[in-house]
Amino acid sequence: ETDIPSVAETYADDFPIGAAVEPNQLSGLTAELLKKQVNSLVAENAMKPDAIQPSEGVFTWDRADQIVKFAMDNGMAVRFHTLVWHSQTPNWYFLDEAGKPMVDETDSAKREANKKLLLKRLDTYVRTVVARYKDDIKSWDVVNEVVEPGDPDGMRASNWYLITGTDYIETAFRAAREAGGKDIKLYINDYGTDAANKRDRIYELVKTMLDKGVPIDGVGHQTHINLLSPSVDAMLASFNKFKELGLDNIITELDMSLYTWNDRSDYGEDVPQDVLLRQAARYRELFDALKANKGLVSAVTFWGIADNHTWLSSFPITRTEAPFLFDKYYHAKPAFWAVVDPS
Ligand code: XIL
Repeated sequence: ETDIPSVAETYADDFPIGAAVEPNQLSGLTAELLKKQVNSLVAENAMKPDAIQPSEGVFTWDRADQIVKFAMDNGMAVRFHTLVWHSQTPNWYFLDEAGKPMVDETDSAKREANKKLLLKRLDTYVRTVVARYKDDIKSWDVVNEVVEPGDPDGMRASNWYLITGTDYIETAFRAAREAGGKDIKLYINDYGTDAANKRDRIYELVKTMLDKGVPIDGVGHQTHINLLSPSVDAMLASFNKFKELGLDNIITELDMSLYTWNDRSDYGEDVPQDVLLRQAARYRELFDALKANKGLVSAVTFWGIADNHTWLSSFPITRTEAPFLFDKYYHAKPAFWAVVDPS
């Protein structure tokens, strides 16, 4: 639709509005919608570790480059997602020179050597990627989902953590800063940052890191929310807590499921209008709060753009989802009007 307002223009004085994309969405209707409605892009998958370095020393930049080029051609910003993650990361990182999984090593001298090797691989990767994109990409997810309150010490028991402790986090941030300078902003990104135990563990981790001089600029809040939770108040409380540490807050993966986590129902193709109106009301509440608390959140990125393409339709189960402001035909939904015409 060309005769409707633009979300990015509506919030031009508040924060950039972004969307996650795949390279194959950068033509046709999706491209037109993106150009009008957002002024920032992030790669849904094309800048993950398995996409960029499938095997050691083999870098595949094509898909990532396509997104950067489209953004530059259209005057949009780009965010980088993500330098480090436990998922979508090739296994070669975690094998020693003999091909043995580092986590299986019991000899302490070899464990120490493996840790050094893994941190070296990480350091090389971070410097290579940051050097390539630092002029075009100013906002970087350095680590993703490293805190997990249910795991020992509240740290996700990933290969990264099991082999290096928290040193991988330190290495990644320091390498990114050294390669990119102060001009790029470095984030720790996670989901469920509104939940007190998760939020407080991230806070503690970041504080420890900052005290050691590790360059962390802000917290990325994924913000995969649903019609009922979390409350906007809980989200604001989290943003405010990190702000007190002097950190920037950004919303990095916003979408709104029609279902609660444990609900296994499915509305099917025709989502009831009252559900779409409830969704609109909740989007309105969130954007009103962001506008009222100017500066608390400095960027908002949706994890997609229209309801025809969303990771939620197969996560946690396969069912009809409609998490965005535009429906599967690219038409503005009640949620769109709530966001461009806040109360
Ligand atoms: C998801 C993508 O949307 C899917 O296409 C892919 O199959 C799996 O990853 N948190 C994140 C994102 O940080 O990288 C995830 O993206 C969604 C949850």
